[in-house]
Amino acid sequence: MNKEQSNICVLVLFNTTNGGTYKLAKAVAEGIEKFPGATAVLKQVPHVKPRTDKDAKPFDTIPYATADELKDYDGIAFGSPVHFGNMSTDMRNFLDQTIDLWTNHKLEGKPASVFMSAGSGAGREAAILSFWNTLAIHGMLLVPTGIMGTGEIDKTIPQGNTAFGTTSLAGAPGSERPSKGELHIASLQGYALAKAAKGYNLVQASLGKTNNNIVTQETPKIDIEARLKELNITLPETPKPVGNYKLYKISGNLVFINQVALKNGKIEHPGKIGTQVTEEQAKEATKQTLLNILSILKQAAGGDLNNVKQAVQLTGFFYTDDNYTRHAVVMNEASNLLVEIFGESGMHTRATIGAISLPLASSVEIQAIFELK
Ligand SMILES: Cc1cc2nc3c(=O)[nH]c(=O)nc-3n(C[C@H](O)[C@H](O)[C@H](O)COP(=O)(O)O)c2cc1C
Repeated sequence: MNKEQSNICVLVLFNTTNGGTYKLAKAVAEGIEKFPGATAVLKQVPHVKPRTDKDAKPFDTIPYATADELKDYDGIAFGSPVHFGNMSTDMRNFLDQTIDLWTNHKLEGKPASVFMSAGSGAGREAAILSFWNTLAIHGMLLVPTGIMGTGEIDKTIPQGNTAFGTTSLAGAPGSERPSKGELHIASLQGYALAKAAKGYNLVQASLGKTNNNIVTQETPKIDIEARLKELNITLPETPKPVGNYKLYKISGNLVFINQVALKNGKIEHPGKIGTQVTEEQAKEATKQTLLNILSILKQAAGGDLNNVKQAVQLTGFFYTDDNYTRHAVVMNEASNLLVEIFGESGMHTRATIGAISLPLASSVEIQAIFELK
């Protein structure tokens, strides 16, 4: 079911390092979808610092959310690891970008609920309350777990249930984590949130307010050049054309750019993904390709990326082994980076394609279309 067809749409927004919070997020989403007509959308918050762990993770394919889109849902479940009795830095950083939503009262009355993955569990209730402070300032309606589901969990092992929201005790013995009991409570929490979200949706409708489930394409208020500095991104020198073509072409307000993984005149990690090139190397090549595109885009935009209105479409071609099917995971490197830099305006449509060869044995080629202001 997609967002438009459902009665209500609830966002499950998480951050994770080891995957514990992601597993809870999936259980919360399952609980939401048990409520008739409810759809859950799973998204993660962007990382402040790139992950040092380079192994592929099951949550790599989950898209990043933008702060602005929070207003478009009927309810939001927030999930994060417990870090020193608090939410994670990535989640804190994301919530700090919701100032515009706050001053414009966009989240007022919208139901919210919090779940967290802990180690020993030290400070886990305080950590949930650290979310609650922020959500209360937004005027959101807090949905706690109370004692729901506690009668049905195995009490012979430590469990992460709290009255405020589900937690998981990743460092506790007696079970794989999250435990069955922790996942059960997470699912009930999702259901309870969906119920509240339905109420919110009905009240909004009775007041004649449109459901916000339409993502607008407002011009971002962020300064893109400052954002690049914040993310420690230096754009490469614009590559030279190596044939009878232009680096970019502007038609109307659209800019068309195509690039491979050139870095300092050489292809970064050339070869076939899956045999000669690892997925991690392919991701690095994909990131380099996108940076080349942005460097050209800057030129096309008169030397200032703030003149870019939005990303429109990315098409990624990957030089792959016959059996390779994880193109989307590699392509996310480019997609996520665009959204991290441009926010909502970085969202784009996308295609990913496997190829039996690519120019100069580049493991990736990207075609990109942007719109200028
Ligand atoms: C910087 C840091 C601080 C942490 N602080 C706490 C803490 O205060 N209490 C606790 O129970 N676990 C703490 N942990 C452990 C994490 O909460 C735990 O590993 C959690 O399961 C990670 O979630 P994830 O699997 O979604 O990444 C901390 C971990 C880190 C890296």
